[in-house]
Amino acid sequence: MKELTQRTAIITGASRGIGTYVARALAAEKMNLVLAARSRQNLERVAGGLRASGVKVIAVPTDVTDRKALEALVAAADGEFGGIDVLVNNAGALTVFPYHRIGIEDVEWFVRLNLTSAMILTRLALPGMVARGSGHIVNMSSIAGIWGPPFDEVYGATKAGLIGFTQSLRQEYHGTGISASVICPGYVEEAGTYHEAKQATGIKASALSGRTTPAAVASAVVKAIRSDRPHIIVNTPSVRPLAVLTALSPRFGEWLTRRANGYAPFVKGAPLNLKAGGQMTGLRHSGGGTSD
Ligand SMILES: NC(=O)c1ccc[n+]([C@@H]2O[C@H](COP(=O)([O-])OP(=O)(O)OC[C@H]3O[C@@H](n4cnc5c(N)ncnc54)[C@H](OP(=O)(O)O)[C@@H]3O)[C@@H](O)[C@H]2O)c1
Repeated sequence: MKELTQRTAIITGASRGIGTYVARALAAEKMNLVLAARSRQNLERVAGGLRASGVKVIAVPTDVTDRKALEALVAAADGEFGGIDVLVNNAGALTVFPYHRIGIEDVEWFVRLNLTSAMILTRLALPGMVARGSGHIVNMSSIAGIWGPPFDEVYGATKAGLIGFTQSLRQEYHGTGISASVICPGYVEEAGTYHEAKQATGIKASALSGRTTPAAVASAVVKAIRSDRPHIIVNTPSVRPLAVLTALSPRFGEWLTRRANGYAPFVKGAPLNLKAGGQMTGLRHSGGGTSD
């Protein structure tokens, strides 16, 4: 989609972290924005800042794990702007926990948050895109979707799911004016989950893992939409050659993941769902429904 001005984008997870950078990058393209997340107060703060730059923005408090809320989100975007041109499925959370102790409901809930919500929201947005013969879906995956990290089974599986989902969408809608892209960031500095875990624990992932910034992730989203890129890995140094090597030699990939020890900040990060000696209590219990 070459021209983004006055087109409309929904961004989930736009109340904090990487989503706010994506919102700013799409606002810089003069898109109309529909911001979704649970926290009304945070969403309104982000929306207020963007309106000051002259773009049209609505904030729609939404729990993406709630199907009715997703229907209401699409209806709000249609009602305000007459359709959805771009959908950025960015909302998501980590699930760091020993897998044999994770709560079964937590497994189901995180799959719903990280994967099912994106699939349902895409399903709801597509009929309008098909009718107009134009649209782009961006799914926020992770390098964890390319190599599954330890203590992060649900996260790795859902992020891998987003890669497969995007590939299928691209094949099915090829040539119709509708397309999809998947973005795989590495560890993001300055904002978001890794940054917060590092602040909370003082522990950094090994330099071998590389790093990126939320601004780089946001520019990748814009590039993906404008240039119809299938799959962008956002990391410095580039891990694409390693991805190829890992595909050729899965054992090498396992060794490298252990060496990089990238998951250490999350394992030590008790605030990120890790409750010693018990079931994960999970973000589910701290954040069901919308707030404020
Ligand atoms: N940070 C990294 O290093 C990194 C690396 C690779 C990929 N990613 C991916 O990038 C995306 C954003 O991550 P982040 O680091 O920016 O995370 P974050 O700072 O924790 O922000 C997550 C966003 O998702 C929203 N959210 C969470 N649960 C929700 C729910 N049930 N319904 C609606 N919105 C919900 C949060 O808002 P509310 O709490 O207000 O709902 C917030 O806006 C995620 O998909 C993540 O997996 C991050």
